Amino acid sequence: MKILGIESTAHTFSIAIAEKKNREKGKKGEKEEKIKILSNVSDKYPSTLEGYIPRKLADHHAEVFSKLLKEAISKANISLSEIDAVAYSQGSGIGHCLHVGFVAAKALSSMLDVPLVPVNHSVGHIEIGKELYCKTNDPLVVYVSGGNTQIMTLDKTAKRYHVYGETIDIGIGNFVDVLGRTLKLTPPDAVGVVRAAEKGKQFIDLPYTVRGMNLAFSGLQTYIEKKVLPEVANGKYNVDDVAFSAQETAFAMLCETVERALCHTNKKEVLLCGGNARNQRLQEMLKSMADEHKVNFAVTSFEHSGDQAAMIALTGIKMLEAKCPDLKSTIPRQRFRTDASCICW
Ligand code: FE2
Repeated sequence: MKILGIESTAHTFSIAIAEKKNREKGKKGEKEEKIKILSNVSDKYPSTLEGYIPRKLADHHAEVFSKLLKEAISKANISLSEIDAVAYSQGSGIGHCLHVGFVAAKALSSMLDVPLVPVNHSVGHIEIGKELYCKTNDPLVVYVSGGNTQIMTLDKTAKRYHVYGETIDIGIGNFVDVLGRTLKLTPPDAVGVVRAAEKGKQFIDLPYTVRGMNLAFSGLQTYIEKKVLPEVANGKYNVDDVAFSAQETAFAMLCETVERALCHTNKKEVLLCGGNARNQRLQEMLKSMADEHKVNFAVTSFEHSGDQAAMIALTGIKMLEAKCPDLKSTIPRQRFRTDASCICW
């Protein structure tokens, strides 16, 4: 089975092709084949000081669609007629962007006369981590991105992810992106914060907001704007120290809740996934915690951490094979929580 996946929830438009071969019968019985990613091509709208304007993102996605479709097909070395289904990122995400991906996927699936598979974006991030990077099939999931920060495990009876803790305001990725713009870093996003944080030396005390198993980041952002930036202007601190202290504080908050969830669930593996899983300092802190508890630490690769369509195509294969009930509702869902998806595979 070959599935073409489309991702378009935010600043990235991406097309991928994933394949799962039929089960082979060998001497030792049936052998379950791993899903292979045949191609995974993306085009990201650049970050600017004005932030992301939904209409501009949607225009970008519509413009790059044809080019990426040709690239994805050519890299996979297949023809379009070999595609058995088209999966797309159903949500959560920015409405304008989601609709470009939906219309493209719907048009392709109608033209090829193959099923349209709606995939929860967050579940895609988790499934690619479990399929390609985990040692176990039942990790404690730490999902960190612009829109989300969630600590979860799979409830096999309910066929849903159970959220143990999450942000109660903005995602950790949104926090660092806004910080990058506030500090006018280059680039003005999470990458700029990482580069500045590496040069920071002085730790500044910042608000640390953990409420039970939940986290809040907007107070940290407001405190930096109102109390710390004036001190940067008068020379007491520099922006590198602010970036360093903000990262250390936010990541320590996350590590505290992850550690508590780990002790509570007794899982043997921690999976870090989502766009901000690329942050090496966050990886280092979570790995050190996992090592102390003698559990495996898994993290998605740089390519498979950010938004990309490989995770959509891969999850689409799992949904189709399991005849998932979520296949019935195909229109985009701007607010589609991770724990609202049926996980029946
Ligand atoms: Fe994402």
